[in-house]
Amino acid sequence: MSQTRPTAVIVLAAGQGTRMKSSLPKVMHPLGGRSLLHHAVSAAAGTAPEHLVVVVRHERERLVSHLDSLPLAAERSLLIADQDEIPGTGRAAECALTRLPEDISGTVVVTYGDVPLLTAETIDGLVEAHESSSNAVTVLSAEVDDPTGYGRIVRDASGALLRIVEQKDANEDERAISEINSGIYAFDADALKKGLASLTTDNVQGEKYLTDVIGFSREAGLPVAASATDDLWQVEGANDRVQLANLGKELNRRQCERFMRAGVSIIDPDTTWIDVDVSIAEDVTILPDTQLLGATDIATGAVVGPSTTLKDTEVGAGAHVVRTHGELAVIGAGADVGPFAYLRPGTRLGESGKIGTFVETKNADIGAGAKVPHLSYVGDAEIGEGTNIGAASVFVNYDGVNKHRTVVGKHARMGSDNMYVAPVTVGDGAYSGASTTVRKDVPAGALAISVAPQRNLEGWVQTNRPGTLAAQAAENASEGERISE
Ligand code: UD1
Ligand code: CA
Repeated sequence: MSQTRPTAVIVLAAGQGTRMKSSLPKVMHPLGGRSLLHHAVSAAAGTAPEHLVVVVRHERERLVSHLDSLPLAAERSLLIADQDEIPGTGRAAECALTRLPEDISGTVVVTYGDVPLLTAETIDGLVEAHESSSNAVTVLSAEVDDPTGYGRIVRDASGALLRIVEQKDANEDERAISEINSGIYAFDADALKKGLASLTTDNVQGEKYLTDVIGFSREAGLPVAASATDDLWQVEGANDRVQLANLGKELNRRQCERFMRAGVSIIDPDTTWIDVDVSIAEDVTILPDTQLLGATDIATGAVVGPSTTLKDTEVGAGAHVVRTHGELAVIGAGADVGPFAYLRPGTRLGESGKIGTFVETKNADIGAGAKVPHLSYVGDAEIGEGTNIGAASVFVNYDGVNKHRTVVGKHARMGSDNMYVAPVTVGDGAYSGASTTVRKDVPAGALAISVAPQRNLEGWVQTNRPGTLAAQAAENASEGERISE
């Protein structure tokens, strides 16, 4: 789409992120199902730059292996630049340049690894404004209510950009400026190289400031500009867990709005959470208190919720999934799940099948139209199409050392409270009695019964539990019988 393809995008991610107070590196904290860094790198990759560089230092090895694991790392070569012990955003950019061709020209964009809502479209817009004005530097700025902590955009009387001053280096007048530096820039490659070469650490923080490239370029007579965005969320960084939660809420609000505009009914967007890699078709209804996570995919006409969490789960067209927790499961078209079902990885429910109330499944292939309606555990099993599993049945898959599989054929009618002691096979069309413990294979069409005939010891309660309410009730019942005789 973009005609303004930057030569390079540099994502800065070398900082420590101490305010997160976490053993997890800041940029690896999750938001909407992706790490902050994944969001930043996706936006950068979305502008289709010739080169994409991530600058790392703190927790370098974890970041690099995380970057290697990202899906986009495969389709585009991602360069890693190591920042040395010299601190500052300017030094970070210098280190990035060492990974790029020496004669690099065109536009070089700089973004941050901890600014997750920035989109490729916004970067494209910045690059377009930058190139159409033939600027040396264009910085994305924002007008904010509380500019504390940010670099301030200093303009001259005519409104032209002069320089950026950091909070800690600013005087009182400068601190009163409410236009801030987002930290996202488009640079002409030449101006960036010259500006970086001029940087010193002569400031309150003793850092090489990338922001000083702007003042330097301006003094050199080159055109510089600040382009203000009115979408403040897109330039907001996640420095602590409060900001992280606020950003997460806003990202989710945007997700819900996007899906509603695309034809999904979301009854309560405030209690519905949808990760960025989820897909939902038109005419799906999402009921309150539902979380759709990972790569969950919901086909048209399905109704999901209330109070349902699905991760990496496929829901077929027209299926109903109520009060369910599912992960890595596949639910067929028109199937019914829940309320109160727990679908663990490897669950596959066929078209129009049913996994009912208080049922847990794992590595279970349940055929089309087959039903496990009540109070059961189905682990390591295959259940054929049209088969009914009676209430309160357990697929006994674990012998204390190994897991074994149970296979039940098609159109079987299995009794309630059955134990399937794996490995065991039940043939097509078989039946079983209530409380059968299936230890041996059942041939097709057979009725399996494993319980001894029932015996009633008459008068046992009155003799053995005299004086109890049960004995009294039994006594009354037998008197009633005598009278009615
Ligand atoms: C910087 C800007 C400031 C701007 C603010 C926006 C400078 C000198 N200041 O502030 O004008 O308002 O961002 O958030 O640039 N990083 C590195 N290496 C470093 C230092 C930082 O890679 O040596 C990375 C961090 O990982 C982070 C980003 O740069 O992703 C910003 O760092 P941070 O310390 O939060 O910003 P400031 O320098 O305070
Ligand atoms: Ca910051």
